[in-house]
Amino acid sequence: MLAIIGGTGLTKLANLNISRRQVVRTPYGDPSGALTFGEINGNEVVFLARHGYGHTLSPHEINYRANLWALAQQKLAGIVSVASVGGIRADLAPGKLIVPEQIIDYTWGRKHTYFEGTDKPVTHVDFTQPFSVPLREMILSSSKELNDPVLDGGVYACTQGPRLETAAEIRRLESDGADMVGMTGMPEACLARELGVPYAMLAVVANWAAGKNDSTQEIHLRAANEVVAEALQKVHRILECMSGVCTV
Ligand code: HPA
Repeated sequence: MLAIIGGTGLTKLANLNISRRQVVRTPYGDPSGALTFGEINGNEVVFLARHGYGHTLSPHEINYRANLWALAQQKLAGIVSVASVGGIRADLAPGKLIVPEQIIDYTWGRKHTYFEGTDKPVTHVDFTQPFSVPLREMILSSSKELNDPVLDGGVYACTQGPRLETAAEIRRLESDGADMVGMTGMPEACLARELGVPYAMLAVVANWAAGKNDSTQEIHLRAANEVVAEALQKVHRILECMSGVCTV
């Protein structure tokens, strides 16, 4: 079964036929909400709204450990994270979809590991490739099957938020090698790795990052809404296609 974590703009899945909701308690506290089980085109999926179903949790307030733990208790083929980002690279205009390949983590103070406490052995998970290679491939091939290929690759920078970045911070991220910027990819990706669950991201460009293109004076999110809505329609189609493949 495929798990989907929906970010900003994706608090529910329009094409999901809901069968049940399950409140899961974890040793790490409560997830952002109940897990929503249902079917897309007859294939079972489980959905979780990262910011809560009322979109009330800021990126730094999300209990990532509880979210990932709750999902990992299910029989999963993998987790697809749908996350909104600001575009840094010149071709990452609002409305574009991209499957990042790498991450740079700028967050701080978040509960970012399961391996802590004197009762757990010191463990260093490998994170050379932060996203599952086969799951990335599945997103990419589904988009190709739909004759609507999404962009492949790129570096996702994860900032702390909830404020957006300054133009100088974006220049710094760019010189670090970042192509896009978001606030929720970490520690989510790393916790999935610690739990051994394949995880990949489908990023939706919601705006130009600070200082870029039409965001030189301030970030224009409103103007981007229409293209983002259209991009989210594509996300739905890709997930529909993927749910048919991830039936394990
Ligand atoms: N910065 C950080 N996170 C984001 C942005 C941004 O510009 N847009 C959407 N998520």
